[in-house]
Amino acid sequence: MKISIIGAGNVGASIAYALAMRNVCDEIVLLDIYADVAKAKAMDITQANIVFNSDIFVVGGDDYELLQNSDIVVITAGSPRKQGESRQDLLLKNAKVVKQSTIHIVKHAPSAIIIVVTNPLDEMTYVAFNCSGFNSSRVIGMAGELDTARLKFELNKHANVKISNLTSYVIGAHNDEMTIVKNGCNIDDFEKIQMLARKGGASIVALLGTSAYYAPAAGVVKICEAIKNDSKIKQSVCLAIGKDLAIGVRAIIGKNGAQEIKKSDEISEQSKQNIIKNIKFLSEIL
Ligand code: APR
Repeated sequence: MKISIIGAGNVGASIAYALAMRNVCDEIVLLDIYADVAKAKAMDITQANIVFNSDIFVVGGDDYELLQNSDIVVITAGSPRKQGESRQDLLLKNAKVVKQSTIHIVKHAPSAIIIVVTNPLDEMTYVAFNCSGFNSSRVIGMAGELDTARLKFELNKHANVKISNLTSYVIGAHNDEMTIVKNGCNIDDFEKIQMLARKGGASIVALLGTSAYYAPAAGVVKICEAIKNDSKIKQSVCLAIGKDLAIGVRAIIGKNGAQEIKKSDEISEQSKQNIIKNIKFLSEIL
């Protein structure tokens, strides 16, 4: 399996490293407008593989031809959220980058499954879906498993429940309006604790001055593993649903991509409308 990553920044490089360490694929490409950065990180990760006698090679560069024959292409290219900057501030800036990346994917890796990480995630997933012309099952936004991990982190910290016993999950928008589904969880302070999960990403930005990358990378690797193993496990992922919306839903993931498993009426109409409004704004400009 060949997995390419567009954007060799914090998230992109962390994905490449995690893919290599978990032996998910045979070939990894790191692509960035800064060729030297991509090449350097590719060499570093390849050398980490060699430490473990692994044959996985990572290739870096700025030439989109490197995408050829990719089974999966991950888009992380764009700017991360700076302190005080909302995901919305990034809307237009990153939409242009995601559109450009998608055009390259269609040209060089037309059979690939696309995984989108660039924020604002729901809108960027829609941009990749719309520009690629791919079936929505082949354009998957990664956010739900990350938000779910942040929820479980807070539940574990405040209610001391083992992570493996937690079954709650997050769907809906990848922002403060995310939809938290208790799914049988009967922890007393759930309502209070879920507020902390909504701020999970922002708490890291406040401490670090930039957005998180290890947990987002893990979210991408989880999707790649489900595709590779055709595991059909349930995950929260962002998918285009209908003709003007992409949002987090429960889906099963296998070798052909993601399939929504049930329509969720728990997602608020308001959060859907906010995404639809942004998508409409982008459609008029892009
Ligand atoms: N083509 C290829 N790479 C690009 C392009 C482009 N058109 N535009 C920007 N990049 C590269 C940058 O050069 C940089 O190396 O994308 C990389 C982004 O990396 P970082 O700035 O480190 O950002 P990162 O933390 O990785 O976040 C990337 O993921 O979680 C989201 O909100 C986050 O949207 C952000 C994205």
